[in-house]
Amino acid sequence: MKEILDQFRLGRHEFDHGNLEGFEGLDPYDLFELWTTEAVKNKESEPNAFVLSTVSSDGQPSSRILYLKDIVEKEFIFYTNYNSKKAEEIAKNPKVSMLFFWPGSSRQIRIEGRCEKVDGQLSDDYFASRPRGSQIGAWASCQSAELTDRKVLEDRVKMYEAKFEDEVPRPDFWGGYQIKPSLFEFWQGRSSRLHDRVIFTVEDKLWKIHKQNP
Ligand SMILES: Cc1cc2nc3c(=O)[nH]c(=O)nc-3n(C[C@H](O)[C@H](O)[C@H](O)COP(=O)(O)O)c2cc1C
Repeated sequence: MKEILDQFRLGRHEFDHGNLEGFEGLDPYDLFELWTTEAVKNKESEPNAFVLSTVSSDGQPSSRILYLKDIVEKEFIFYTNYNSKKAEEIAKNPKVSMLFFWPGSSRQIRIEGRCEKVDGQLSDDYFASRPRGSQIGAWASCQSAELTDRKVLEDRVKMYEAKFEDEVPRPDFWGGYQIKPSLFEFWQGRSSRLHDRVIFTVEDKLWKIHKQNP
């Protein structure tokens, strides 16, 4: 481990994937679309993966990776288990932070906002589009609860496979969340650590823009 840590400490990464200039007139959603399109074009390995951070009622943040599945009426949508740790924290504190990182283009996007459950119909439609294995998995997994033995999970999979021979209905403990952004930060890595940072904040439904020191 020491050798690896030495490499980390001595490592020097030069960022040279362009700059973030000339975007002042843009809406943050346009810029998000542009960067996401480029992330896909650049073959970033997980272009729609983001880190979601939530905060517990005693102020302890926690983070995990999720997939962005849609943007509906300017809200960012992901799907998960409504009994999970993140769901419990969102119920008590709907303020969350999302972070996308695309190393191939030296970019990150931070989005802060409020999170709430989506309409049941949207979750039904998305659940119906998933492969059967994922649908059964959603029933079988008590996400974030202690698992004493993997066999318990595998037995639950078998049980639900037998129970739902044809169509698998959406469990009521599984569905989507939508995040309404109040802040976007677009970060473009540049050389000598002189990165570009452009922040959009919302005021009276209008997006204000400013730059920040790297
Ligand atoms: C690339 C990647 C994508 C993931 N996407 C999802 C997702 O869309 N929904 C989900 O519930 N968990 C997803 N996970 C698993 C979560 O990171 C996490 O382990 C799980 O949601 C439980 O989190 P919690 O206990 O903090 O609630 C993903 C993990 C990875 C590595």
